[in-house]
Amino acid sequence: MSGIDIKDVFFRYNNSGFALEKISLFIKKGTFLGITGINGSGKSTFSYLLNGLIPNTLKGTMTGKVTVDGITTDKKSVAFFAKQVGMVFQNPDFSLFNLTVSEEVSFGLKNLKFDSIAQRVIDALSSVGLAGYAKRDPQTLSVGEKQKVCLAGVLAMDTDYIVLDEPTAQLDYKNSKELYELLTGLNKRGKTIIVIEHDTDLLWNYTKETLILNKGEIVSSGPTSKILSNTKMLNLLGIKVPNYKNNHTV
Ligand SMILES: Nc1ncnc2c1ncn2[C@@H]1O[C@H](COP(=O)(O)OP(=O)(O)OP(=O)(O)O)[C@@H](O)[C@H]1O
Ligand SMILES: [Mg+2]
Repeated sequence: MSGIDIKDVFFRYNNSGFALEKISLFIKKGTFLGITGINGSGKSTFSYLLNGLIPNTLKGTMTGKVTVDGITTDKKSVAFFAKQVGMVFQNPDFSLFNLTVSEEVSFGLKNLKFDSIAQRVIDALSSVGLAGYAKRDPQTLSVGEKQKVCLAGVLAMDTDYIVLDEPTAQLDYKNSKELYELLTGLNKRGKTIIVIEHDTDLLWNYTKETLILNKGEIVSSGPTSKILSNTKMLNLLGIKVPNYKNNHTV
């Protein structure tokens, strides 16, 4: 079956303790997975397993195995996996270094030699609500707008998997909802969405599956309706119990 298969992974950054331990999970293609857990629980580190940044780029030691649609992540380059797994990082400033929004969104496309670049940029900017921003200097944008530019860069690549690390941390309520509506639409069209999120209301309302990390280990994973209704566990882990008023739609 297509998907991302993580088997018995341990990872430690250089000169540091284990950031991930005993991680085994199959992320099936087409799902909408939410990942939550308190600060430092290993969420961002986990996300670097999905696109080959670990073990190919980040300095540290990994054991175990990750395959993306059957291809082991240490067998191909980060550029190879960039075409399968798009990543919106937690800090948009790490990704923004071009002079204009348009150059920013086309950067990956040019590097990986895509065609129809101009049209892809226009479509991606419009789908994140930034039509008309093409000539702006990314450094002059608000933090929420910067995050949207990063998302546009990923959407333009049309990857099968889209990973977003706390995309709503800088967004207001309206923009957060709009982002999740956009992700839901992409998911319905077949994209696999993996989102790291502290707002359990958003996870409850939009995701199909939830994964909870704690101290680098998976403490719980499965259908969102099951995982996030375990109030005892959420309280124990310091995770906010969602507002169940909105029916879980999955
Ligand atoms: N480059 C690094 N070198 C050494 N240790 C690191 C490095 N990056 C992260 N860590 C450590 O790994 C652990 C997991 O960090 P990670 O950033 O994955 O957590 P997180 O769940 O994403 O946290 P947050 O909610 O604050 O974003 C933490 O203990 C952190 O201090
Ligand atoms: Mg993080």
